[in-house]
Amino acid sequence: SGLNLAAKSAKKLYFGTATNSEQWNDTKYYNILKNDAEFGQFATEPEEGVFTFQDADIIADFTKKTGKLLRGHNCVWYNQLPDWLTTGTFTAPELAFIVSRHCYNLVNHYKGHVYVLRFNIHANSTSDRYSWDVINEAFNDDGTFREDVFYNTLNTSYIPLALYAARAADPNAKLYINDYNIEGTGAKSTALKNLVKSLKADGVPIDGVGIQSHLIVGEVPSTFQQNLEEFVALGVEVAITELDIRFQSLPPDAAGIAQQKQDYETVVAACNAVEKCVGVTVWDFTDKYSWIPSTFPGQGDACPWDENYVKKPAYEGIIEGF
Ligand code: XIL
Repeated sequence: SGLNLAAKSAKKLYFGTATNSEQWNDTKYYNILKNDAEFGQFATEPEEGVFTFQDADIIADFTKKTGKLLRGHNCVWYNQLPDWLTTGTFTAPELAFIVSRHCYNLVNHYKGHVYVLRFNIHANSTSDRYSWDVINEAFNDDGTFREDVFYNTLNTSYIPLALYAARAADPNAKLYINDYNIEGTGAKSTALKNLVKSLKADGVPIDGVGIQSHLIVGEVPSTFQQNLEEFVALGVEVAITELDIRFQSLPPDAAGIAQQKQDYETVVAACNAVEKCVGVTVWDFTDKYSWIPSTFPGQGDACPWDENYVKKPAYEGIIEGF
């Protein structure tokens, strides 16, 4: 790929981007497609028990044809839920079945696909297990569990339920728990570390932690690398799964643009420095499709390429970080 990362990275470190089907034919994506809302929570189960994979298949087929790694995102998330789930009333056994069946069917549909030959980014390309964000955003920022439709009926049991179902569906896929505002040490990171410890102690399958990394220019936590190392010390790998580094006011000035470049370098270099940090996925690589402006009005310019696919200094920061 144009990133020439093989020459830079001494370890197996991937670089990729999120996408969704409206963008899939935009052929400028690099190395990995992380399924954005197409695999989104229950976007693949619009009616109870009825599964629809055609949109996500577009992306999965594209990655299969081009030998890219594929991160599945996600199985269980409190957001973007269908009405039948949010308005329904379920007993704990009924909801436990719904969660297990959804995770199993979704992961099984892509069994044997979520690991493919690496996209020649490394000299010794080998087929490699790849990953699902099985649980997405389970915690509040204060470290308590998010009181969502799953927790309110199943307490925390939905988490092992989903992980066991995913493992049964595709034993060769790596299973992740993914969250944001866990990029530095703090209450939310500690809560997730405690959850990982507990799951490991109980023999629940958990292979990795996804650090979303939706950051603000100039505010990369000073404990970023230490935090990665603390997760890895628990026996899991980590990945930077949704990297974007936004400006809170636009247009950015020269100092801000330079800071954004440095911030991208800092994040990628930290992942590169931690052996079990396996890769970096940006959350859309071009400002053209970034979720930031619609989610954080007045903020943006968060991606390494601008809306016209012109590389920004942030792109150079990524290269330097590798
Ligand atoms: C966002 C998508 O980028 C948007 O297009 C969608 O409208 C909402 O979800 N954390 C996550 C992602 O795990 O799934 C979210 O993606 C961004 C925050």
